[in-house]
Amino acid sequence: MTSLQLGALHTAPVAESDLLSQIDVSSLPRHIAIIMDGNGRWAHRRRLPRIAGHRAGAQAVREAVETCSRLGVQALSLYAFSAENWKRPKTEIDTLMALLREYLQRELAEIHRNNIRLQILGHYERLPREVRTDLDDALVLTSGNTGMVLNVALNYSARAEIADAVNSILLERAHAANGTGTAIQANITEEMISNHLYTRGLPDPDLLIRTSGEMRVSNFLLWQIAYAEIWVTDTCWPDFTKKHLLQAVIDFQKRERRYGGLGSNGA
Ligand code: FPP
Repeated sequence: MTSLQLGALHTAPVAESDLLSQIDVSSLPRHIAIIMDGNGRWAHRRRLPRIAGHRAGAQAVREAVETCSRLGVQALSLYAFSAENWKRPKTEIDTLMALLREYLQRELAEIHRNNIRLQILGHYERLPREVRTDLDDALVLTSGNTGMVLNVALNYSARAEIADAVNSILLERAHAANGTGTAIQANITEEMISNHLYTRGLPDPDLLIRTSGEMRVSNFLLWQIAYAEIWVTDTCWPDFTKKHLLQAVIDFQKRERRYGGLGSNGA
């Protein structure tokens, strides 16, 4: 059980090098998705404002990005702001936007140096103009990079993503049929939908990590996580370190992925 192993991580400190030595680099998850949860609880337990939790959470993002990139993971998707997060108080939303800008100002050069390509998942055109401008600059700067893809989900909803994909398939067909009298057919395949998602071109996440112990997928990458291995830790996001990430990869590598078939022993 994941939680038992993590319990051991807390009681008997394990060196990073020990964890690294347990990882088989030939079978890394190609894509890791993370639901970064528990910033508010982290702050509450320390009698700090929620904003302090988000600030500490932004620091943890740096470590996760660096670790995945160094390991050789192809894509990392971070759930930073959901379409439902607009329901939060304006001051909290403003802080999250400011933290995102601070993160880019602080980390962009390093991200670029590490050959990481930034992508945004979600309708980020609804974000404040100054945030969009910073994001656009970052997207342009890193667009030619060939290393890890860093997906940051902003104003993201997986249901909206799937609806967008279907609409874009229909729109393509309407353009193709325009004036030719060709009837628009209804046979939309799974492959077509995958090819029209925001994550098109990337492998689906093999590993979905969620912090702070909640057992939910919260409208994140619903299509893409169909066969992802799910790894949940009680640790709140601001306390999530490189060691947690390495432990998640080690546990992932022990799982038997069956994709609806039989296990290796035929059971
Ligand atoms: C969930 O914690 C976290 C968020 C809604 C935002 C995540 C944002 C960051 C980690 C900081 C900025 C991001 C980047 C990419 C630099 P919560 O507030 O829902 O926690 P709670 O459930 O304990 O209240």
